[in-house]
Amino acid sequence: MKVLVTGGAGFIGSHTLIELIGKGHDVVIVDNLCNSSQESLRRVEKLVGKSLPFYKVDIRDREGLSKVLDEHKCDVCIHFAGLKAVGESVEKPYEYFDNNISGTLVLIDVLRKHGCKNLIFSSSATVYGDPAQIPITEECPKGKCTNPYGETKSMLEDMFIDIQKADPEWNIVLLRYFNPIGAHESGTIGENPNGIPNNLMPYITQVAVGKRKELGVFGNDYDTHDGTGVRDYIHVVDLAKGHVCALEAIKRKCGLAIYNLGTGNGYSVLDVIKAFIKVNGVDVPYSIKSRRPGDIATCYSNPAKAEKELGWKAQFGIEEMCRDSWKFQKNNPNGY
Ligand code: NAD
Ligand code: UD1
Repeated sequence: MKVLVTGGAGFIGSHTLIELIGKGHDVVIVDNLCNSSQESLRRVEKLVGKSLPFYKVDIRDREGLSKVLDEHKCDVCIHFAGLKAVGESVEKPYEYFDNNISGTLVLIDVLRKHGCKNLIFSSSATVYGDPAQIPITEECPKGKCTNPYGETKSMLEDMFIDIQKADPEWNIVLLRYFNPIGAHESGTIGENPNGIPNNLMPYITQVAVGKRKELGVFGNDYDTHDGTGVRDYIHVVDLAKGHVCALEAIKRKCGLAIYNLGTGNGYSVLDVIKAFIKVNGVDVPYSIKSRRPGDIATCYSNPAKAEKELGWKAQFGIEEMCRDSWKFQKNNPNGY
């Protein structure tokens, strides 16, 4: 298939390009580089051994996007482009609604005007809020999001559902990611956060590499096996493969389909720190801090639906995730 990849220069997008090309698909990349560098694409090109069509275009730029689709007839869009920093979204809600919601509306309109009514969307386990059940299946009701970033994911899901209902020619797959970490085994592409990392793994790797003094563990009084928050970490390469499998759902004209992409295993913050130290033989100084507002105790998936319907199952465990996150950080102490 010919795949339009929005946000293709980013963390998950860059890894997905490799898996798509590995399975013989063609890609067209659109990214405004607001949270990424073209260097990631140069490295992907090196890994796949060919040059890739890239357009530095903002998805809110209707004309720019139309030109790309005039030039390339795409079968499907994988839509990664969006802002994703939870804390920043609380400070700048307008920017998050504008970028994520307005941007997606422009994208949908340009796609349908070009006869491309197939889309795979990056959603998040954040739409479950404080989940009503653990492990979380796709039937679990959506919950209250605690920040504008989460709201954009939840609202966009609802919009996609209405759009597909009104026009059944659309095939739309909503992929709810759990916590992506890790990096490509080459150690040349990985997560490259701007400023102080919000998320656990990039914070750990920056402490390990000496960029930050110590990790703060946000709370050890949760109702979990060691008191720290439990999450479903998933290797980004497994996640990337999930998108290639989701193309099969599009091919068989799935209409609207929702899948959790997680491993089904929950690890606490202390479990992750211990695994990282053991696998990589480096120290990660940490101290216990108070809870982070908006955090929940436990979040992990039941990924059985994706296995049954897409034939997808995560292969990598926490050790490989820790090994590969560290390999990228160590090889790229200052990012791209
Ligand atoms: P990322 O920031 O590395 O990648 C997003 C890419 O989109 C960046 O390259 C950025 O420059 C681009 N972009 C942003 N706004 C754009 C716009 N208006 N026009 C064109 N390009 C734009 O993030 P990621 O971790 O790769 O996440 C990809 C998607 O998955 C996002 O939608 C994110 O919300 C979602 N997601 C991520 C996680 C996670 O933990 N990383 C979890 C759940 C969902
Ligand atoms: C966060 C976002 C979520 C988003 C996801 C991916 C919040 C409340 N949720 O999920 O909306 O989809 O990132 O971008 O921000 N932790 C520490 N110290 C740190 C960082 C994290 O102890 O320095 C703990 C957290 O309390 C949590 C776990 O590590 O228990 C994972 O945190 P994080 O990586 O930020 O992911 P989530 O909070 O699950």
